[in-house]
Amino acid sequence: MATATLDKKVSVPRPKIRRTECFIDGKWVAAQSGKTFSTVCPATEEKIADVAEGDAADIDLAVKAARKAFERGPWKTMSARQRGKLMYRLADLLEENLDELAALESLDNGKPVADARAADVPLTIQCLRYYAGFADKIHGSTIPIDGNFFCFTKKHPVGVVGQIIPWNFPMLMAAWKWGPALAAGCTVVMKPAEQTPLTCLRMAELAQEAGIPDGVLNVVPGFGPTAGGAIVAHRDVDKVAFTGEHLTAQIIMRNAAETLKRLTFELGGKSPNVIFDDADLDAAVKGAHFGLYFNQGQCCCAGSRVFVHESIHDEFVSRVASMNQSRVVGNPLDLSTEQGPQVDQAQFDKIMGLIESGIKSGAECVTGGKRVGDRGYFIEPTLFANVDDNMEIAQREIFGPVMSVLKFRDMDELIERANNTIFGLAAAVWTRDIGKAHKFAAEVKAGTVWVNCYDVFDAAAPFGGFKMSGQGRELGEDGLRPYLETKTVTIAMD
Ligand code: NAI
Ligand code: MG
Repeated sequence: MATATLDKKVSVPRPKIRRTECFIDGKWVAAQSGKTFSTVCPATEEKIADVAEGDAADIDLAVKAARKAFERGPWKTMSARQRGKLMYRLADLLEENLDELAALESLDNGKPVADARAADVPLTIQCLRYYAGFADKIHGSTIPIDGNFFCFTKKHPVGVVGQIIPWNFPMLMAAWKWGPALAAGCTVVMKPAEQTPLTCLRMAELAQEAGIPDGVLNVVPGFGPTAGGAIVAHRDVDKVAFTGEHLTAQIIMRNAAETLKRLTFELGGKSPNVIFDDADLDAAVKGAHFGLYFNQGQCCCAGSRVFVHESIHDEFVSRVASMNQSRVVGNPLDLSTEQGPQVDQAQFDKIMGLIESGIKSGAECVTGGKRVGDRGYFIEPTLFANVDDNMEIAQREIFGPVMSVLKFRDMDELIERANNTIFGLAAAVWTRDIGKAHKFAAEVKAGTVWVNCYDVFDAAAPFGGFKMSGQGRELGEDGLRPYLETKTVTIAMD
């Protein structure tokens, strides 16, 4: 593992912090309580800014603003095409400010700025454009029912939606939620993750500049149980969309029972990535490495159980090990950095605990396993071989730069083992045999299956989980449905 120097030549400038308050009804306001919390730079552990700490009182104001904007005012009467136009304008403004947004994301989250420039911000823009195009293509159907009736359906926006997002892809998660909500004509109360509120607030500022009317998008930073909990419990929120941990989703589902809100969940995973002995090994090694270590391993779809055919196992392990040894870990604002710090102390501690669990359970720690430096939440790219299916590291979501390699012999055994998890978000297979690829894709219980590739995302392709990895889908046309209610109108013709 190489450590990036804090080379000034290749570091991007530290971005200016523009917005730290709640954004409610088109205004920037302090939390009603006057409280703030600090958002921290994970690379240095230094405070970046004090951010308004919203709670139930602020959520209530935001919901009232969102309700007013939904029931009255320009958003309700605006044509669908005009809604799409405003969304395109927001996407254009994000593009104009791409470098600033990427730097801000990197500063607040710790991800390499090169990744934010190449992935987070462009995918955010793509998502908003994709759903902007949908705004004027949402319609019902006419239905031939028995008797002399004219029966048709209409699609209505579901109403005021509460959106609670995590810290691993802060901007992108905001776009996955705003895109379908705005296209459908809903209004939004969003709570960004407490670790990474800054880019969402900046996006709200740009949304206003784009002309999205007051009250349509409201952003209330704050903590999960307080601000998040208030969204979930609020009587006037029609739907909650959540991305995060399955244990949090269970709490949300219980707390939403009282008001029977519509719920969609995009949760975690323990995704199997399978490499057969007939695969293009160069591509498989690179793909598996990327599929796990990208974004410091903080991906819901991380390929964290890598099943490798026994005949190529040792070679695979040694190639991944050598990639880990040359990986550039360091200052995320340095353009040459490949791996930054984990997002916070809690994630750092969880990952280090799981690494210890792997070692204690007898897995072979081939590379890494330790902290990097003594400042910031950096962890060495870690590789475990000889992992058994039932070890804690093969069952729990680690959400860090820790790969577990498991050996397999044949397809039947493999599918059962691949499905031996409470999760079902993603899966991948590497093989030159089209039959094997199809069989695996058919049998694996996962919402997304990649064949000879990993982490291929597109706003047009639905994404979401089987089993405890979620409910409903985001992206694509499927991602729009949870934001719409179907109204059936039947008219007697005689
Ligand atoms: P989390 O699920 O607690 O946080 C996600 C969001 O939910 C944040 O905005 C948080 O403030 C909010 N939240 C927390 N408790 C809430 C509650 N009671 N009511 C309403 N909202 C609430 O995840 P956390 O603690 O940040 O990470 C823990 C683990 O979750 C990670 O180690 C990882 O395994 C998993 N995770 C999975 C993600 C994914 O993309 N599927 C994203 C983030 C975390
Ligand atoms: Mg939490």
